[in-house]
Amino acid sequence: MPEPASLAELLRFQIEAGADTAIEEAPVDRYRKAAPAPSPEPPPAVAARPAARAATVALTPSSAAEASARELAAGCRNLAELRAALERFEGCALKETATKLVFADGNPEARIMLVGEAPGRDEDRQGLPFFGESGQLLDRMLAANGLDRTRVYVTNILPWRPPGNRSPSPEETTACLTFLRRHIELVAPAILVLLGGVSTATLLARSEGITRLRGRWFDFPLGESSIPAIPLFHPAYLLRQPAQKREAWRDLLEIKHKMERLT
Ligand code: URA
Repeated sequence: MPEPASLAELLRFQIEAGADTAIEEAPVDRYRKAAPAPSPEPPPAVAARPAARAATVALTPSSAAEASARELAAGCRNLAELRAALERFEGCALKETATKLVFADGNPEARIMLVGEAPGRDEDRQGLPFFGESGQLLDRMLAANGLDRTRVYVTNILPWRPPGNRSPSPEETTACLTFLRRHIELVAPAILVLLGGVSTATLLARSEGITRLRGRWFDFPLGESSIPAIPLFHPAYLLRQPAQKREAWRDLLEIKHKMERLT
């Protein structure tokens, strides 16, 4: 049995490496889990289905995941189906390490839809977006504008927490984005509020930073039409840079005026 001091050292190392949450009681050897399971049946005769076999070989794992995401998302007719489709989707590695699916919070009938970046530790445990410290600030920002979660709908680019809050890979983001686009279509909000630089860059495909883009209106294309979208500083950034709350306040007023103009 190792000494308590070296166990504590090992734990510290793991936390620094990003493994800051105990997900299960016992360790799981994920390399072992990834090994292909022995096939219970002999493989089908290749000559019998040449076309299907050729298609399988041509798909790389990431394009297969994208194709699966597109098919699943397109078939969802409501939010309950979309949530169930995400629960079934096996094409995103983030799901393996996340504790819970973080789908959305708030009122799906709301005219304002907010899109953040990704669940953190608190959201991963709770299964709700913006549940931790930045969520509390978000709620205060909304309240200052006469809003709360009964009057907005909140989700994230990623529905699963990246382990140790690492940046997601492009493949992970692409697969999740397919579901998010369907999510936005189903909610059909009057406006989209993009919280932070990642959400803004991902949904608007702009290269400028959030400081240049915040407070301005853009068209988020969706199907045949588009939805007005406005980037805002992320609450987590405002917690680190409270002096920027003044700009965020200005942007919230702009949202309020836009909503008045739209009604
Ligand atoms: N930050 C986000 O972008 N989303 C959350 O749900 C929590 C923190």
